[in-house]
Amino acid sequence: MTQPLSLTVLISGTGSNLQALIDAIGNDLNDVEIIHVISNVPDAPGLEKAHAAGIETSVLDHREFADRDEFDRSLAVLMASGDPGLVLLAGFMRIIGPNVLEPFAGRMINLHPSLLPLYSGTDTYQRALEAGDRKHGASMHFVTEELDGGPVLSQVVIPVLPGDNPESLAARLSPNEHRLVVATVDFIAHNAVECRNREIRINGETLDRPLRLQDNGTLTR
Ligand code: GRF
Repeated sequence: MTQPLSLTVLISGTGSNLQALIDAIGNDLNDVEIIHVISNVPDAPGLEKAHAAGIETSVLDHREFADRDEFDRSLAVLMASGDPGLVLLAGFMRIIGPNVLEPFAGRMINLHPSLLPLYSGTDTYQRALEAGDRKHGASMHFVTEELDGGPVLSQVVIPVLPGDNPESLAARLSPNEHRLVVATVDFIAHNAVECRNREIRINGETLDRPLRLQDNGTLTR
């Protein structure tokens, strides 16, 4: 029997990706358990979603800390609670520093709304439209010291349609992000996925380009 993957989820806002995972676990996502949800925003709506699902929550308000290092040290302590197999950053709007990165290296993945390495940082929809891109998407990458710069494990691609604006593109990407998060967590729960020295290995084999989400919800090379 597979050992369940225990997951801690970091959020700052709505938590729609968290909700997608909660729903999937209640449906057909097996061997995954969310053990803790941590928010740096005390009134993040995602906290309510966690409560409703009976998941332990913690709030760590970054405004109450003297500096980033102090916040990170407390975050690392909270994250270690329950010894999660994976920490998922889903709409967590803080940059993570070395105090968190070191103990969780290779165990933290972030969801980012672009086809990385394109458009790290913010305003990804606007930037994709301004560049005239015909495709947009979302990526899940291992978290490293470089903002949105860690090795990319998986991606979902959507077309940019004539007349799209940042809002329409974001609205069309959102359900696809949900599918990507669920498929990626499912994949990690059922495969040996490692990331060391910026190299991702899956069941011992180097991943040379991100896994791609297919219409049927599976991730393929
Ligand atoms: C997602 O669009 C994700 O790509 C970005 O923040 C958003 C989080 O949404 N990093 P939610 O809080 O899960 O609804």
